[in-house]
Amino acid sequence: MSTSNWYTGENYDPDPNLKIWLDGKIIPVGDAKISVFDHGLLYGDGIFEGIRSYNGRIFEREAHLRRFFDSAKAIRLNVPWTFEQLDKAMDDALEANGRLRPDQDAYIRMVATRGVGVLGISPIRTWKPQVYIIASTIKMYPPEMYEQGMPIIVSSVTRNHNNAMPARIKSLNYLNNILAKIEAHDANCPEAIMLNAQGYVAEATGDNVFIVRGGQVQTPPTSAGILEGVTRATVIRPVTSIDRRAIGHGKVGPITRQLMEAYENLVRNTPKEMSAAERGLAGRAV
Ligand SMILES: Cc1ncc(COP(=O)(O)O)c(C=O)c1O
Repeated sequence: MSTSNWYTGENYDPDPNLKIWLDGKIIPVGDAKISVFDHGLLYGDGIFEGIRSYNGRIFEREAHLRRFFDSAKAIRLNVPWTFEQLDKAMDDALEANGRLRPDQDAYIRMVATRGVGVLGISPIRTWKPQVYIIASTIKMYPPEMYEQGMPIIVSSVTRNHNNAMPARIKSLNYLNNILAKIEAHDANCPEAIMLNAQGYVAEATGDNVFIVRGGQVQTPPTSAGILEGVTRATVIRPVTSIDRRAIGHGKVGPITRQLMEAYENLVRNTPKEMSAAERGLAGRAV
């Protein structure tokens, strides 16, 4: 991959028919605008969630919403919506895009920015935070890699130190991860493992990591400085080589395969998780 021009040349404009939930309204994507003075854009000052919906059902909706509000609290951003309102807003965004149907999967991106402010980093001189929800799809790794495995690298980019930018805050500033991703792309790999400042495995650029060792599944502790992934307890990635060294037999192993199947079964067949409204959580403090 050349360093000067690595763009694919494809058009990545969103589907013009996409509807966005922005500030309480469902509007066409072309009208969904955030100010150039928004501190989310100027300084990466904001937080987000990435949430999956399988067969029209949001997976672990409560866990994701909790993490959203926890991230906001950590950066002292007052989300101008309640837990229950955003819970419903996710369904509204799905429905507006025909993705509540049982034959539909989706990827939901919920974002809260610090909002419009004066130039200068202080969040004190900002106006109301902006919240929006995209209900669309996401492309992760090439499908054949889930069968055949994937080559990855160990990045030279250290995962943010917890005292600098705790990884458990899902902030709008992902440059730490992006630098590692660039390094992976340069090595023709789709993913990179990031080590923490002590040299221990932390996580990948957008995923938690697991290893099958001696028949056991192992994953770094949250104290390694990682995002507390919602999928962490159930998912495993079929990694077969790191830095060109084969992992195991260099193929997707039986435990990985078993976990992948169990995970797929779980997300598609778990009874529908109740929304906050259904659980009677209206108005609860978060
Ligand atoms: C840095 C990072 N680690 C881990 C994950 C996995 O988290 P989850 O399983 O909650 O999606 C993500 C997901 O976006 C991430 O960005």
